[in-house]
Amino acid sequence: MAQDGAAKVALGSWPTPVEPAPRLAQALGLDAGALWIKRDDLVGLGAGGNKVRKLEYLMADALRQRADVVVTSGRAQSNHARLTAAAACRLGLRCVLVLGGAPPRTLAGNLVLDQLFGAEIRWAGPVGDRQLDQRVAEEAAALEAGGARVAVIPLGGSSPLGARGAIACARELQDQVPGLRHVVVALGTGGTLAGLVAVLGAERVLGVDVGATEDPVARVTSLLEGLSRPCQPEALRIRSDQVGPGYGVLTEQAIGAIRDAAGLEGIVLDPVYTAKALSGLRAAIAEGEIGRDELTVFVHTGGLPGLFGHELASDPMRLRLHTGPGGGGPGPAPAG
Ligand SMILES: Cc1ncc(COP(=O)(O)O)c(C=O)c1O
Repeated sequence: MAQDGAAKVALGSWPTPVEPAPRLAQALGLDAGALWIKRDDLVGLGAGGNKVRKLEYLMADALRQRADVVVTSGRAQSNHARLTAAAACRLGLRCVLVLGGAPPRTLAGNLVLDQLFGAEIRWAGPVGDRQLDQRVAEEAAALEAGGARVAVIPLGGSSPLGARGAIACARELQDQVPGLRHVVVALGTGGTLAGLVAVLGAERVLGVDVGATEDPVARVTSLLEGLSRPCQPEALRIRSDQVGPGYGVLTEQAIGAIRDAAGLEGIVLDPVYTAKALSGLRAAIAEGEIGRDELTVFVHTGGLPGLFGHELASDPMRLRLHTGPGGGGPGPAPAG
C-alpha cells in the first residue's frame, strides 16, 4: 500500500537518482550548480521512463479487478504502450495495444520492444484520441465476449489514479533537492505535470507541451481536480512554444537540446518529449522566467527507444556533434 492509501504494485527502483549537470547548466545560461537532472529514465522496468510510476498504481488496480488482460492505447511509438506491455510481462498478464496509424513496413524503436514483450497490436488507422478510446472500448468488449477479464489502462496512463505516480516523484524531489525553485518536465497527456503540481505547487513546476493532446491545460486542470488539489488554469506554468509543426515533429531547438545533453553530459534525450522539454527550459532561462542562480530540476522522463523509432534514426548525421580539434562535444555556450 502506498503512502496515500492507494494500492500499488512494485515495478521500478526508487528513488530514481538526481544528478548534477554543470556543463549543461552553463550552456543553458544557468550557474554551474543550479541544474540537476531527475533520472526517471533509469527506473529499471522495460527500458524505463516516467510511465512506470503511473503503472504501479494502474496495474495494481487491474490486479484488484482480477483482470487477465490489459488493454491500452497510444501512437505507434508510445512509450506508455511499451511500458504497459513490460509491466504485463512482469505480472503475468496478457497485453493488447491499440495503436494509432497503420502497421509500418519495418518495426523500429518502441515497436520492437512491444514485440519482445509479447504485446498484441491492433492498428487503429489515422484516428484522433477520442476515436482511439472508442477502439479500445470495442476491443475490450470483444475480449470480454471471448471470456477474458479486461482492465483498460487510460491513454498515457493519465487518470487521477495514474497521476499519483508523479506525486511520488515530487516527494522524492522534496527530499533530494531541498530549496528547489523550478521543476521542468515534458507535458503529454498531463498526468506527470498534474502529480508534480499537486505536491510542489503550480508556481514551481513548468510543463513544456509537446503537442500530444488538444487541450493540455484542461486535461491537467481536470486531473488536479481528480486528485482533490484544484488549481486555476491560469496558475499553471505551461509553455506551448516548443511544439513546432506538431507532435513528434522535430524542431531545430529540439535537435540542439539532444546534442547539448549528449555532448555536455553524456545523457540521451528522446526526440518527442524530453528534447522539447529541454528546449523549453532553455527558452525559459533566455526569457528570464528562470533566473541563472535558481535551483532547477529537469525531469528526464525517458523515451530512449523512441529515438530509434524516429525518422532521425535513418538520418543520424543530423545529430552529429560538431567537435573542435580537442573533441569533447559542443562545449558550454558563452554565459548570459
Ligand atoms: C518519455 C515521456 N516523457 C514525458 C511524457 C509525458 O507524460 P504525461 O503524458 O504524463 O504528460 C511521456 C508520455 O507519453 C513520455 O513518454
